[in-house]
Amino acid sequence: MRTTGSVRRVWLAGALVGVSALVAGAGCALFQSEQVSKGQKLYGHYCMHCHGEHGRQNEGYNWGSMPDPRPKDLSAKEEMSTFKDEELFATVSRDMKDTTPEVGDKIGDDEFAVPTMPTFKYTLSEEEIWAIVAYVRTLHGTKLQYDVDGRKKGLQDQLQAAQQKYDQAKQALEAAEKKAAEEAKKKGAESDDDAASKEEEALAVVAKELERAKTAEANFSARPKFASVARPDLTVKPGQAPKLSDVGRRLYTNKYGCNACHRVGEAGGIVAPALDRAGFRLNATWVYRWIKYPQSMKPDTRMPNLGLSDQDARAVTLYLATLRASSQAKPLEKASN
Ligand code: HEC
Ligand code: HEC
Repeated sequence: MRTTGSVRRVWLAGALVGVSALVAGAGCALFQSEQVSKGQKLYGHYCMHCHGEHGRQNEGYNWGSMPDPRPKDLSAKEEMSTFKDEELFATVSRDMKDTTPEVGDKIGDDEFAVPTMPTFKYTLSEEEIWAIVAYVRTLHGTKLQYDVDGRKKGLQDQLQAAQQKYDQAKQALEAAEKKAAEEAKKKGAESDDDAASKEEEALAVVAKELERAKTAEANFSARPKFASVARPDLTVKPGQAPKLSDVGRRLYTNKYGCNACHRVGEAGGIVAPALDRAGFRLNATWVYRWIKYPQSMKPDTRMPNLGLSDQDARAVTLYLATLRASSQAKPLEKASN
């Protein structure tokens, strides 16, 4: 009996070595397919209504209702292969730009700035956006090449380096303060408040760098979190309201592309409730809070946080308050989920 047992153990050990060699070889492919299926889920929730399940034109239910330019064909290998992974990432994770000619933002020749393509920079983690890019690659039959793990490690290293610099600067400040106090004591004078001002300034600089490195590292694997939105001051000086709501209307279309998902009158997308009667239906303070940070009220909403500044959110809120279509003219549309 004993012999059989040990023979069996030897055989088992051999089989295990074989299996682990296989797993090591397949590890990378396994990670890749996990990343792609994670990306597929996110794409289904955040992208598919506009871009379609396979990335094709007129496939997503919102495609036909959108203003021009309509979402391009993500399954077109020839065109999509001309974009680097980093470029796709940058499109999905950017700051929105006011595309109004002349009064809007400066936009570079090669810069992607279509307002009706939302940003997900303020909604998803960096890792999630890379997973989405990995999935988008499969729509046109290629693969993500970008070293996502390397990026993660890079951010961790940067954080560690920033922490070290901070600790050193703090020690330097403490040493300078101690020295100043000792010298003052020798002279029998009051300690000079400005003696360590250079070290204080240096510490403030590296403290900011450390904050930035911490945020970058945290936003890699966790969705961005923001402080809860303070109660806005929505009072407007008499005579200012029309001007401000005009700015709001401009930002609504030309910067944040709210019309990609929402309808006013006959124009706009059908991902979300129509806003024709927003001025009657919705409380302005609530609207302001919602558009600044939708995920704080509904974590899984399809409406991304578009990174509105306080000023922009105020103008857009005032614009929505002017939308008061009669209920007969246009029945309310419900969001389709
Ligand atoms: C509200 C509709 C809408 C949603 C939601 C949306 N897109 Fe887009 N997307 C557009 C429009 C409009 C364009 C601009 C026209 C074009 O270039 O296709 C665009 C363009 C793109 C492009 C091409 C960029 C370029 O440089 O030409 C990519 C890639 C893309 N979207 C990926 C995504 C991904 C990934 C998601 C989900 C995380 C997403 N989109 C969500 C509407 C949308
Ligand atoms: C990618 C699509 C999308 C974009 C872009 C978008 N929204 Fe939304 N929005 C939604 C969805 C979906 C809802 C429904 C909320 C839910 O149940 O998740 C919503 C809800 C709202 C509501 C509440 C409506 C109601 O009747 O309850 C307001 C107000 C609103 N959005 C304003 C805006 C504004 C202003 C912008 C531009 C700054 C904007 N949205 C951009 C998808 C979008």
